[in-house]
Amino acid sequence: MKKPLRIGLIGYGFMGRAHSNAFAQVNHFFDLEHQCVLQAVCARDGNKVKGFADRWKYNSVETDWRKMIARDDIDLIDIATPNNLHAEMAIAAAKAGKMILCEKPLGLNGREAEKMLAAVTKAKVPNMVWYNYRRCPAVTLAKQLIDEGRLGRIFHYRAKFLQDWTINPELPQGGAALWRLDIKAAGSGVTGDLLAHCIDTALWLNGGIKEVTAMTETFIKERKHNLTGKVEKVGIDDASAFLARFNNGSLATFESTRYARGHKALYTFEINGENASIAWDLHDLHRLQYFDHSDKGAVRGWRNIHVSDNGDHPYVGNWWVPGLQLGYEHSFVHQVADFVKGLETGKPAGPTFRDGLATDYVTDAVLSSARSGRWTKVKQVK
Ligand SMILES: NC(=O)c1ccc[n+]([C@@H]2O[C@H](COP(=O)([O-])OP(=O)(O)OC[C@H]3O[C@@H](n4cnc5c(N)ncnc54)[C@H](O)[C@@H]3O)[C@@H](O)[C@H]2O)c1
Repeated sequence: MKKPLRIGLIGYGFMGRAHSNAFAQVNHFFDLEHQCVLQAVCARDGNKVKGFADRWKYNSVETDWRKMIARDDIDLIDIATPNNLHAEMAIAAAKAGKMILCEKPLGLNGREAEKMLAAVTKAKVPNMVWYNYRRCPAVTLAKQLIDEGRLGRIFHYRAKFLQDWTINPELPQGGAALWRLDIKAAGSGVTGDLLAHCIDTALWLNGGIKEVTAMTETFIKERKHNLTGKVEKVGIDDASAFLARFNNGSLATFESTRYARGHKALYTFEINGENASIAWDLHDLHRLQYFDHSDKGAVRGWRNIHVSDNGDHPYVGNWWVPGLQLGYEHSFVHQVADFVKGLETGKPAGPTFRDGLATDYVTDAVLSSARSGRWTKVKQVK
């Protein structure tokens, strides 16, 4: 008999669906002592949330997240709401003794994230941040290759996350679906939204970042606000680029924008080491490009590894037969599997709130450097 892990999800948008799918799938593919139970889903509109619960087979609904957190038939609170709600919800959930999975970025800024980390530490509750790209099998393989020392000394880290969906100046800001353009709900623009993903992956693969120098731009200065109906100043960064020095001495460039016409979600990174290089591309997420300088003679060149071709590839043994691709949604299933395994082994899987705070410290430094025009030291998590 498996132990039930009763989940209470807050927010049923894009991520609410991705998480629900992961909770529903994980026990079909991973051997776990726990059984995920879709116990309750919460959002403000009673009719809509009922429709979502029926479709995804949640046992119950709530329209007030505080009531859901207070329920004693829920073990884990999953936060999939806009960024400005993460801290309040996570701190309340920790005080109620619930495990927490929280969407990224952890807080609106490092100050908020510090309070969130303090709350889960005090309550001793298991916690994780949904930086799911770590668990695309090709990215996990990149981590394995680096940890095996195959790259040797790392010289360069290069990351980009490019989109094009806010180029239209008539697009309003604020409210459902457009909260990302509203500084109060989002905290920042592409820095906290997209670069946060690149930074989390980078810290995981290449260690801490020491200092940054950044530039940001807001191309469309005013937009109509959906909640007030008035044309208001845009407070978010539309584009953000920074140089960084890692603690290991390597140099980095990071770039993100929602103004790269033609790109929808082009997250790429490349790492150059003394002995080898690796590169990854979200649009081709099941492949890892790998160049090994120790390869001999005329066949030395970039290898294009299809990261589901053999049972040794990360997570592949849990799914189909070799050669079939794993996609975006699988990264969320893997994250739930690793979180639950962490509960069972007593070895918590990352990224925890501590890791989420480290990323928020980097985004704080990026925004601060963009304002000052100076190199800025990144606060390190104690
Ligand atoms: N891990 C990833 O790759 C990834 C991708 C997209 C979004 N995100 C993060 O996930 C979070 C949600 O983003 P999204 O794209 O799913 O947004 P969304 O707008 O699609 O969904 C947000 C949901 O929150 C609900 N909500 C808002 N206020 C609420 C309240 N007071 N009480 C209860 N529910 C409330 C909305 O009804 C909606 O269902 C954000 O923090 C975002 O940064 C992460």
